[in-house]
Amino acid sequence: MMEDKDLRWFELGLVPESYIVSKEYRPENLDIPFSDSIPVIDLANIPLEAILKASHDFGFFQVMNHGVPEKTMNDAMNVMKEFFDMPWKDESGIVPNSKNWVYVKSSNFAKDGVHLWRDNLKHPCYPLQKCIPLWPNNPPTYQKVIAEYVVEIHKLSLKIFEMILKGLGLDPGYFNDTSEVQLLAANFYPPCPDPSLTLGSFPHRDPSLITVLNQANSTGLQVLKNGEWINVGVIPNALVVNIGNQLEIISNGRLRSVEHRVVTKKHEGRRTIATHVNPSPDCIIEPAKALVNESEPPRYKAFRYRDFVERNKAFGDYTNALQTVARSS
Ligand code: OGA
Ligand code: NI
Repeated sequence: MMEDKDLRWFELGLVPESYIVSKEYRPENLDIPFSDSIPVIDLANIPLEAILKASHDFGFFQVMNHGVPEKTMNDAMNVMKEFFDMPWKDESGIVPNSKNWVYVKSSNFAKDGVHLWRDNLKHPCYPLQKCIPLWPNNPPTYQKVIAEYVVEIHKLSLKIFEMILKGLGLDPGYFNDTSEVQLLAANFYPPCPDPSLTLGSFPHRDPSLITVLNQANSTGLQVLKNGEWINVGVIPNALVVNIGNQLEIISNGRLRSVEHRVVTKKHEGRRTIATHVNPSPDCIIEPAKALVNESEPPRYKAFRYRDFVERNKAFGDYTNALQTVARSS
């Protein structure tokens, strides 16, 4: 039996008041079925149509036969598990909130005074070779394992972009030099004594082009569809892909960046690695010229990606960021 003083923040057997989200954010129904989940797409079939349809109807899909080796996915998840399970209070060599990576223990972070039910680690990934030495070096295999993972996710993102560009009828080179896995965000959402009171992540849209999520066979991710939250199901070895704000803008609204959130579970934890594939900071983002005309005028203004991020960072969740660049109709 562990002594009380060794209990971690999520092991107290009750939800501390500072973790209770306001009523409007509380998940109302935690028993929604998994049946109407997001589409599952086999990349081996070069499924242009299916990707475009899923990106329009849901903004989310899962991919199988994506080319990221199972071992690379599992190794990455295992090294993250080790990272999050480290006894932080007496860990040496760890510099929380260092310049290059940020470890956010749930208890250290509050949005509007409320803690999310998760621990989170974030770091930049581009340019990769420059970033690797600045990542955590404990567990000792962290840098090697995660670098391999990022390389594979980058390859996959190029494959997905190729299909999306072909499907939209855009130049296949559109993203060649401007899209990179820029940011990795890993999360540990522990089991929660009362999931009706907490959230693992507030509803948000991603500021990326696309985000590729390894959810390691755990549930908890929900996507807003026709005003209802739907669950993202578990498909072994699949990866979850979602369209971010930038691709909604470039596609002039044909692909959609959709709100999603993470709910907590009473008996299961959730571990994820999200890789955000973003434009380079100085890139100008605007609806692709080939997709706008008199009957389909541009819905968004042109802007520098860096300015979009700066302008919206303050809100933290990018939920309404698209509105800041929308043209009034
Ligand atoms: C994100 C995200 C979901 C998850 O990182 O943008 O939505 O399940 N993550 O961790
Ligand atoms: Ni997200």
